[in-house]
Amino acid sequence: MQFFNRENPIGVFDSGIGGLTVVKRLNQCMPNENIIYFGDTARVPYGNKSNSTVIEYADEDARFLLKKNVKIIVVACNTASSVAINYLQENFDIPIIGMIEPGAKKALEISKSKRIGVIGTYATINNHAYSKKLLEIDKEVKVFEKACPLFVPLAEEGLIKHPATKLIAEEYLNELKQAEIDTLILGCTHYPILAETIGEIMGERVQLVDSGQAASQDVEKYLEGRGLRNISNSIGQNKFYVSDIQTKFEEIVKLFLGKELDYFAKIELEELTKK
Ligand code: DGL
Repeated sequence: MQFFNRENPIGVFDSGIGGLTVVKRLNQCMPNENIIYFGDTARVPYGNKSNSTVIEYADEDARFLLKKNVKIIVVACNTASSVAINYLQENFDIPIIGMIEPGAKKALEISKSKRIGVIGTYATINNHAYSKKLLEIDKEVKVFEKACPLFVPLAEEGLIKHPATKLIAEEYLNELKQAEIDTLILGCTHYPILAETIGEIMGERVQLVDSGQAASQDVEKYLEGRGLRNISNSIGQNKFYVSDIQTKFEEIVKLFLGKELDYFAKIELEELTKK
């Protein structure tokens, strides 16, 4: 493993802007860390792409961050975490933390009935990434999974408490309600934006797990444990790179991060894909 400095930034990548919900958690957890974020907005969504395409994109995203001298890579995208985490951890000489293991561990920590629900994109659900991890840690657990693809555009449209969102959420979540789960993993970058509506539908007895929050705590522990936490007293900077400036970019950033970006730049896809 290479040698890293505590002053180096934390690298984060996602298929698009959704991963800013994870950056928000990282900022809350470690306000003095600098963050370099890459959002692959030219190729989003990843959630309905094949595994080989997601692995290829994740490889390019991680390579981009490596060039920025990051000390750790956080795979904010649940889809990329589901499909590519083993590939990335085997092929990159840098610590890499995804969303699945932290989210699964947190869910097992809080679930009493061991009946856990997972919602995510088609790729995350079809690969059973969370259920495999949950069962690897605890064989007794019962996992109920449901793909909720329409939650992504609803969150990006800011339709947080809109009747249409409620209707769609009721339709998606009905079978998880019937399954009498007590814990629900929000297994997609966008879902924390809709947490209130999801929580209302699932009812008080169901606790929601924000994988981004769980992962931020794991990143902090990891860095602490290796003497890699930044010890500066000043607030860190969020530097944001995207492969395309999509429609409503600034509005979505504000909604997902809760503030404006300190810095952002567009990079060309050719730069990203050149070997
Ligand atoms: N970032 C993706 C995830 O967390 C959602 C958007 C997409 O499909 O690319 O799974």
